[in-house]
Amino acid sequence: MIQVLDETQIDIAINALKNDELCAIPTETVYGLAGNAFSEIAVAKIFEAKKRPFFDPLIVHLSSTEMNIAHLVESGILSPLTPAQEETFKTLSSHFSPGPLTFVLPKGRNIPDLVTAGLPTVGIRFPSSQLAGKILSQLPFPLAAPSANRFGRISPTCAQDVIDELKTKISYVLDGGSCSVGIESTIVKINPDASIQILRPGKITLKNIKDLGIEVMSSGTHSIEAPGQLNSHYAPEKKLTLIDTCTLREPNFNFSEFEEKKIGLITLFPFEHPNKPSLYVSLSKNGKLDEVSRNLFSTLRSLDSLDCDVIQFETPSPNAEGLEHAILNRLNRAASDPH
Ligand code: TXA
Ligand code: MG
Repeated sequence: MIQVLDETQIDIAINALKNDELCAIPTETVYGLAGNAFSEIAVAKIFEAKKRPFFDPLIVHLSSTEMNIAHLVESGILSPLTPAQEETFKTLSSHFSPGPLTFVLPKGRNIPDLVTAGLPTVGIRFPSSQLAGKILSQLPFPLAAPSANRFGRISPTCAQDVIDELKTKISYVLDGGSCSVGIESTIVKINPDASIQILRPGKITLKNIKDLGIEVMSSGTHSIEAPGQLNSHYAPEKKLTLIDTCTLREPNFNFSEFEEKKIGLITLFPFEHPNKPSLYVSLSKNGKLDEVSRNLFSTLRSLDSLDCDVIQFETPSPNAEGLEHAILNRLNRAASDPH
């Protein structure tokens, strides 16, 4: 059984973490399954609870008071950076941290190889959610925290999702309500020459980063991916097919080709059509992308309980940029058939 802790019970979470136990914590992106990042015992428990393969590295979460390279090197979280790398880190962190951005940088001596899957780099993030900041500032170590779901499932965006995912596997979840961003952090790798690569798209966009004058490397048509991101990552059980927004919103779009099956239609924004299926949900009421991303995973999570055979899900167009690109990335993973 998982005990749900509120803010007044944060000491219980702190004690558990100090004793190499795990506690799920809220962040602004998704809930994380946290353990002492300096402890191999705690980190091994994270992999065990999630049934996560050891080739998939974990992100290390830090209090924003630790957002200083000299301190991070001193405490063995990072190895020394090149001056150019340090400059890029400073520019990005001063604009977007604390917040939904993870930096991949040379790993320091106190981070166990288990955390980084043997890689010479470590992902670090300074979450902005109030409760995550509060717990991190009261601990003498950083927290390794992957999303608090069983491996291959949708990331949790509220405490109940964590309970549904990890019921018998962990003892505590700290309840901070629903996550405000709703999709996982943008991951950037900062290279020794100051350029960066985006390993996972998220709320902090390519444009946000380029606007700061930072060079973003691309590798032609094949974008570089962070290790461990498998296609079934967000898969629901039910058959899910995607319709690109331009196709769906053509005035003569025809739903009849799906006639033999009961369709559930999920759109990004409100949608009017004479033959719209009776089971219809829009991810946003106000037509704003932030609302779409906030509701995306909870909606994906609810698909299996909808009374229909097939889910049609509107996607951003293939050349979408920014947060729409990140949403498309998650939907493409959800719809890739793992079964
Ligand atoms: O928003 C988030 O990032 C959430 C919250 C809890 O902070 N965490 C999260 O963790 O999404 P997780 O474990 O579900 O995804 C972390 C991904 C790994 O799968 C891997 O792709 C990438 O981060 N990653 C971690 N360390 C890395 C490294 N050293 N090099 C490249 N990619 C890395
Ligand atoms: Mg995950």
